[in-house]
Amino acid sequence: MNKKGFIFDLDGVIVDTAKYHFLAWKKLANSIDIDFNLEQNEQLKGISRVHSLEKILEWGNKTLSEDKFMELMARKNNDYLNYIDQMDESEILPDVTKILEYLKQQNQPIALGSASKNARAILKRVKLIKKFDAIVDGNDVSKAKPHPEVFLNATRALKINAKDCVVFEDSVAGIQAANIANMISIGIGEKSILKEADFVFKDFTEISIEFLNKLTNVEKKVIQ
Ligand code: BG6
Ligand code: MG
Repeated sequence: MNKKGFIFDLDGVIVDTAKYHFLAWKKLANSIDIDFNLEQNEQLKGISRVHSLEKILEWGNKTLSEDKFMELMARKNNDYLNYIDQMDESEILPDVTKILEYLKQQNQPIALGSASKNARAILKRVKLIKKFDAIVDGNDVSKAKPHPEVFLNATRALKINAKDCVVFEDSVAGIQAANIANMISIGIGEKSILKEADFVFKDFTEISIEFLNKLTNVEKKVIQ
């Protein structure tokens, strides 16, 4: 079997933290009289914390001083961390552990490529941190998805060429980042949203071992 680099996004791919981001952003937005709904939350997936707050303020037609902006960012993250503190293995999305274990058993390099600065804390809580050969998160990058920096850093850490990497992502920005880096992009979620992905699956229960094996033998744009 050929070696590929398998890069996993975290939020919405390994664990369903989008619901916690939603609750924390909604509380924050409502506290400054801005409405916030699930549709808007969808647009924040894969987007950094700073850009998320900028978008919310834009939707609410508000401008804030830098101090106030930093204060709100901290407040949102504190609320979010309270949810994270309650997490355990039961919040790992279906078949994620099975896929990680299969890849490990096949000696395939595995990395995390996430925009979150809380990635390590979450992986520890759900006891998956040891499954990753490399972790690249929001603390390691200066350019947010759709810029491919996070995935390119992951390929470097794994010592695998970008063209030999496969990315699992639930966000449009993340799929775009993988495509820009010329990696095989696998969308986890709705086909109607993740239109630009090379493949889309509702979740990992739809991904077969045969499909994973096939991935290890092909390069971007070759598989049909
Ligand atoms: C991404 C999430 O993984 O991480 C975004 O999809 C989030 O919703 C971003 O804003 C940054 O996360 P954090 O945990 O650093 O605020
Ligand atoms: Mg995500």
